[in-house]
Amino acid sequence: MNANTARQALRSVARASGASTERTLLARAPAAQRAMSTLLANRSSCSKHAAAAVPAASAAKQQLRGYRMLKFADTEEKVYERSDWPVERLQQYFKDDTFCVLGYGSQGYAQSLNMRDQGMNVIVGVRKDGASWKEAQEDGFVPGETLFPVEEAIERGTIIMNLLSDAAQASTWPTISKLIKPGKTLYFSHGFSVVFKEDTNIVPPKDVDVILCAPKGSGRTVRSLFKEGKGINSSVAVFQDVTGKALEKAVATGIAVGSGYIYETTFEKEVYSDLYGERGCLMGGIQGMFKAQYDVLRANGHSPSEAFNETCEEALMSLFPLVGEHGMDYMYKACSTTARRGALDWAPEFEKACKPVFERLYASVKDGSETRRALEFGNRPTYRQDYDKETDAIADQEMWRVGHTVRALRPDRQSR
Ligand SMILES: NC(=O)c1ccc[n+]([C@@H]2O[C@H](COP(=O)([O-])OP(=O)(O)OC[C@H]3O[C@@H](n4cnc5c(N)ncnc54)[C@H](OP(=O)(O)O)[C@@H]3O)[C@@H](O)[C@H]2O)c1
Repeated sequence: MNANTARQALRSVARASGASTERTLLARAPAAQRAMSTLLANRSSCSKHAAAAVPAASAAKQQLRGYRMLKFADTEEKVYERSDWPVERLQQYFKDDTFCVLGYGSQGYAQSLNMRDQGMNVIVGVRKDGASWKEAQEDGFVPGETLFPVEEAIERGTIIMNLLSDAAQASTWPTISKLIKPGKTLYFSHGFSVVFKEDTNIVPPKDVDVILCAPKGSGRTVRSLFKEGKGINSSVAVFQDVTGKALEKAVATGIAVGSGYIYETTFEKEVYSDLYGERGCLMGGIQGMFKAQYDVLRANGHSPSEAFNETCEEALMSLFPLVGEHGMDYMYKACSTTARRGALDWAPEFEKACKPVFERLYASVKDGSETRRALEFGNRPTYRQDYDKETDAIADQEMWRVGHTVRALRPDRQSR
């Protein structure tokens, strides 16, 4: 299997993990759509995130909170929760709206399906006969009914959700901007386009609400968590409030796309923190740190198996999940006293070594360098192939080739 075929196969598996029967049903029959949305709403109400597991129907009758003030360590912040927006309330709130989802990448796919499953009126706008057009069709969006070329979709929508790639948002803006008429709402999942307007030339029309909901995770997770009755954490922000309702609309849309809890931010803070985070601990930092540790082990004569297990596998399969569930202190306490002593001593060393890199990274985000690089790259006609070359090079590193073998040895995979 070559790299392209493998990527396509992976994508199909990821997509297939969304319930295809649900999708087909929902796309074709409005009655089934309502029934499924009620089912999903009730399933959601059983989740940990749906406060007190209140069934959606009875929750709708209750006095809804709107938001909650919570202390995050010593700082009080406002949070919005799914339990305040039962599906009936969402349906009522958006009964006159058509969500026009532009783009069917990771976020377009997840956000549109999550909304459709909850009975929202959703249409998708993508390039006719591009990869996304075909994918949206596979997921039950019907050309001429719920699937349109970008411009026609905008004309039909009331809430225009710009989920094209960030580079495409900039290159298509001259065409798109003319169609964002008064009465419509412009929605993003990233502050990128609007904040770095010197580079993107995206200046929203003055007479529309401009809102943001940024899920803090990949679209694949936005979808899978929703289907499990859980929800992704997201931030919301308002760039322009013409109607006086922009924040409420942003929160409601955030819940509709599958968020569990939502915190407030600004467009600027969202884009700075997001670009910084993904270049740091979330992606770039983790690859860099894993690779450095692995290479030193290998240079000191450790076997690939040992180097991978002591660097990646134990982290990902044993220790990081403990941190995710219970916090770093819990993970430390769950390890030997020998491990704890060493980790406690070396953590400040790593902090000291990394801090200047993080400071340089934040400055590079803030001055727009990271944006210009992303736009330059994303606007190349060969951007997909160019990105693939670099990620294929990561896949070819010894460490990740070893990872294939180690993962295949997991007992749950051997039985397949
Ligand atoms: N992915 C994430 O984890 C994540 C998380 C939070 C927020 N966001 C934000 O969500 C937004 C969407 O990101 P994404 O990752 O879902 O999408 P993406 O993979 O970056 O973009 C994919 C979409 O853009 C379309 N596209 C690319 N170039 C185009 C062009 N020149 N003209 C028209 N369409 C074009 C593609 O259509 P074709 O198939 O036709 O090429 C596809 O539908 C971005 O603002 C991103 O920053 C992403």
